[in-house]
Amino acid sequence: MPSILITGGAGFIGVNAAQHFASLGWEVAILDNLSRRGTEDNLRWLLDQHPAIAFHRVDIRQADALAEVVAAVRPSMLLHLAA
Ligand SMILES: NC(=O)c1ccc[n+]([C@@H]2O[C@H](COP(=O)([O-])OP(=O)(O)OC[C@H]3O[C@@H](n4cnc5c(N)ncnc54)[C@H](O)[C@@H]3O)[C@@H](O)[C@H]2O)c1
Repeated sequence: MPSILITGGAGFIGVNAAQHFASLGWEVAILDNLSRRGTEDNLRWLLDQHPAIAFHRVDIRQADALAEVVAAVRPSMLLHLAA
C-alpha cells in the first residue's frame, strides 16, 4: 500500500484527507505543531477512528526535525497543508 505524510494533518483539510487515505488502507502519518485552536480535538477525532495513524508534533520551520520525520516515514506521497 502507498504511504502518505500530511503536514498540517491536524487541520481542517488535513484530518479529512488523513481519514480518507486511511480508509483506503494507506499508511498515513501526519505532522502538525497544533498551533491552530481546535486541532487537538481534530486529532482526537482522527486517532479514535484510525489509531494506526502516526502523529508527529513538529513545526515545519524546524528543518532538522522535519527532515527526521521524512526520513523515518519515507512516504510515497507528501501532502503539504501546514500554514
Ligand atoms: N479550507 C479551505 O477552504 C482552503 C481553501 C484553499 C486553500 N486552503 C489552504 O489549505 C491549507 C490547509 O487549510 P485548512 O483549512 O486545513 O487550514 P487549518 O488551519 O485548519 O490547518 C492548517 C494546519 O497547519 C498547522 N500548522 C500551522 N503552522 C504550522 C507549522 N509551522 N508547522 C506545522 N504545522 C503548522 C495548524 O496547526 C493546522 O492544524 C492552508 O494553506 C490553506 O490556506 C484552504
